[in-house]
Amino acid sequence: MLVSDTLDITKPYQGYTYSYPHKSTYRTFSPIQLKDIWKEENSAFFYTHIPFCEMRCGFCNLFTVSNPKERVSKYIETLQLQMAQISEVIPNLHVKNFAIGGGTPTFLTVDELELLFKSIVDFGVNPKQFFGSIEASPKTLSSEKIALIKSYKIARLSMGIQSWIQDEMDALGRPQKIETTLKAVENIAQAGVEEFNLDLIYGTHNQTKESFLYSLEKTIHYQPTEIFLYPLYIRKLTGLGVKNQKESQHQFELYITGRDFLLNNGYIQTSMRCFRRKEAIDCRPNTGYSAITDNMIGIGAGARSYTKNLHYSTDYAVKRKEIKTIINEYMSTKHFKSVNYGVRLNIEEQKRRFLIKSLTDGGTLNIALYEETFDKSPFEEFHILNELQERNWLTEITTNVFSLNQEGMCYEDVIGPALYSENSKQLMSDFEWK
Ligand SMILES: C[S@@+](CC[C@H](N)C(=O)[O-])C[C@H]1O[C@@H](n2cnc3c(N)ncnc32)[C@H](O)[C@@H]1O
Ligand code: SF4
Repeated sequence: MLVSDTLDITKPYQGYTYSYPHKSTYRTFSPIQLKDIWKEENSAFFYTHIPFCEMRCGFCNLFTVSNPKERVSKYIETLQLQMAQISEVIPNLHVKNFAIGGGTPTFLTVDELELLFKSIVDFGVNPKQFFGSIEASPKTLSSEKIALIKSYKIARLSMGIQSWIQDEMDALGRPQKIETTLKAVENIAQAGVEEFNLDLIYGTHNQTKESFLYSLEKTIHYQPTEIFLYPLYIRKLTGLGVKNQKESQHQFELYITGRDFLLNNGYIQTSMRCFRRKEAIDCRPNTGYSAITDNMIGIGAGARSYTKNLHYSTDYAVKRKEIKTIINEYMSTKHFKSVNYGVRLNIEEQKRRFLIKSLTDGGTLNIALYEETFDKSPFEEFHILNELQERNWLTEITTNVFSLNQEGMCYEDVIGPALYSENSKQLMSDFEWK
């Protein structure tokens, strides 16, 4: 039995496991050639990271800097160089779905954005065939950029709103005016973007049930395809973390309020955070991509790449000075054919990752696939699965394929961390944050 602890549901916000193992488990190792890392793989999700924003929000620890003095065009040239070298050493890698994230990709000018899209298409990403997504912030998203995104057939546009109340935005340390949000959302709605997602944050200390309902009402007025409800996490070295600000004590009640509001207003819940408009529930093309088993090839400073047994990236930091140093190092790199920073996944870590990806963020747990991959039953190895069943948090959607039900989804941020290995927890706690 690999996990015997029981879940502590008195603390529903223990950690968001959007990737496992966490970046703070990454360490330097002797260089490994990309061609060796990828020799048994032939397809991957494609991710490009744009580590620039027009502001640095108080809650955010993503790998990004605001208003960089460095030349953004130099960064794009470096992305092109990296892609060219990857194509050379892994010529048979087929890319399927893709995402352009950050930071804020729409921080780029229209011309820079177009150059980026062209380079990605040249690399072999085909937005007409595969589903792609791009992130934006209200202030940087002009009608011209929306038109460009549409012309490249990038299907999904995702933008942070966080709140429709100025005092809450100020408490989040996000220098964004409500008028700016309004204009950007109206532009997206008018442009008829295929899929658009808006993010809201709950749990700011001055947020009330009423004020959260107001933000939700304002948001659904535009009928976004998806709405993400993010619990506020106050993280180390961020603006709010340094000020020692605290999340609202009513965070979980706020979540239930928000969830029920969306369920009663035409949205279906697909994970703890994600709510999808009912009419859009089946309209995403099935490209055979699986977040559980597929690889990822990441381009840019801060981007991660994954194969089955190795995850790697550039160095990681949260503070502006250190992030700038890493971006500058990236831009002066001439050789992208080997890597030396990341984490290896032994079989135990691969099992844990499989279960985390299956149980959170809208995944499904396919028991036959697990048994075929690892020659063992996950119920025999991970007591937590029995606990999920005892708590009636699992629904069998087809024979031997399970997903978390509505009650279970409330606790994704308890279930994810409960599946971390002792080794990963140790590496995370030893990590030197900078
Ligand atoms: C890359 S940003 C979205 C695009 C764009 N940069 C923006 O801010 O509008 C990712 C999203 O993650 C959420 N997020 C990031 N850090 C968070 C935190 N500490 N607590 C809660 N939500 C967070 C925010 O809702 C944010 O919109
Ligand atoms: S929330 Fe978005 S705009 Fe704000 S710092 Fe993070 S990535 Fe940049």
